[in-house]
Amino acid sequence: MKALKVSWLHALGVLAIAISSSSHAQSGGSPAAAAADGLPTWAFVWDPNVKVPPPDDKPNSLPGSSASYSWKQARDLFVAPDWHPGDHGPMPDVVASGRKPDVRACGSCHRVEGTGSPENASLAGLPVDYLVQQIADFKSGARKMSGPERPSTTLMMGSVKGMTDAEVLVAAQYFSALKPRRNVKVVEAETIPKTGEARLFFTRSPGGGTEPLGRRIVEFPDDEGQFELRDTHSTFTAYVPVGSVTKGETLATTDGSGTTLACGICHGPALKGVGPIPRIAGRSPTYIVRQLYEFKTGGRSAGASALMKQVFEKLSAEDIIALAAYVGSLEP
Ligand code: HEC
Ligand code: HEC
Repeated sequence: MKALKVSWLHALGVLAIAISSSSHAQSGGSPAAAAADGLPTWAFVWDPNVKVPPPDDKPNSLPGSSASYSWKQARDLFVAPDWHPGDHGPMPDVVASGRKPDVRACGSCHRVEGTGSPENASLAGLPVDYLVQQIADFKSGARKMSGPERPSTTLMMGSVKGMTDAEVLVAAQYFSALKPRRNVKVVEAETIPKTGEARLFFTRSPGGGTEPLGRRIVEFPDDEGQFELRDTHSTFTAYVPVGSVTKGETLATTDGSGTTLACGICHGPALKGVGPIPRIAGRSPTYIVRQLYEFKTGGRSAGASALMKQVFEKLSAEDIIALAAYVGSLEP
């Protein structure tokens, strides 16, 4: 185990040197200059004008669970609703309830099994070293988030800032030990259910109807109530443009005639991650789009992200959609 880790870190170092020397030769611009494609606002959904009804104390139940939680509890970021306690091991306090005043319960946004949601991130099964590093990068400001100042991002920044090293480690170990769950179905479509009000994530219009998808990815929770009550068994449908999965597969498995690097070189043959490099297979396509955008525009520029430079440098907005569609369609 130790030998594997060391040899991977060594390989990473060698790759980093090879990549940084070759990219120095061909580029001189700052990462921010690469932001030619503009912010994909559909991946950074946020409308503060959407009103949510005030939460009440009435207990709610969900199929397949004997637990019950009120809306007040489900909206309280110091509570991580645990609908299926048999599905996971003992939760550290920081995951279950956080630590007031700043450290919100990691499990409330990322869910107690690290399944995540389109506006945040799935954490289940990611490498401990990777998770620890990302938290450190958020703390230092080396990993930033673009787009409008959504509460999920500002609260996340505050949450990790207040974490102690011991809390970081125990949270990383907990999420890393969880088995990733397949919870998103990728569907190619020209026309999709009409979108309704979207505060932080897309909803289907209660009035029904359809609208053109265009060049977007629109990811809906299949059951909004279940999702907002933070059930880890929630599932999602991500509508992607027709042809994008095959296009993404070509880019991901070849270098797309010099457009990128095959993802498997670093993320492993099934893109399930290797050593400290994270799994990307089966994760929310919306999340993948945001990350590729952040790498491209310099929002993510810390340490190991230099390895991604040749991957994202030449990607167009359409390539990013295609890669996210393909990667999201894989078994996690
Ligand atoms: C208010 C909601 C919220 C809370 C609470 C929260 N997060 Fe996050 N977390 C987010 C969002 C939003 C992102 C970033 C998504 C993106 O980059 O687009 C994120 C991203 C992350 C990532 C990066 C994942 C990756 O694959 O790179 C890690 C690690 C993480 N959070 C750990 C934690 C830990 C540990 C806690 C508990 C202290 C926590 N988060 C609490 C919302 C939250
Ligand atoms: C040369 C090695 C390398 C290649 C090739 C590579 N990646 Fe990565 N990737 C990394 C590293 C290292 C990280 C972690 C960066 C960090 O620490 O911030 C990463 C992170 C990511 C992330 C963020 C994951 C998360 O949890 O937030 C995404 C998305 C991603 N890569 C997509 C891709 C795609 C898509 C491809 C293929 C087109 C690809 N990568 C090819 C090395 C690579």
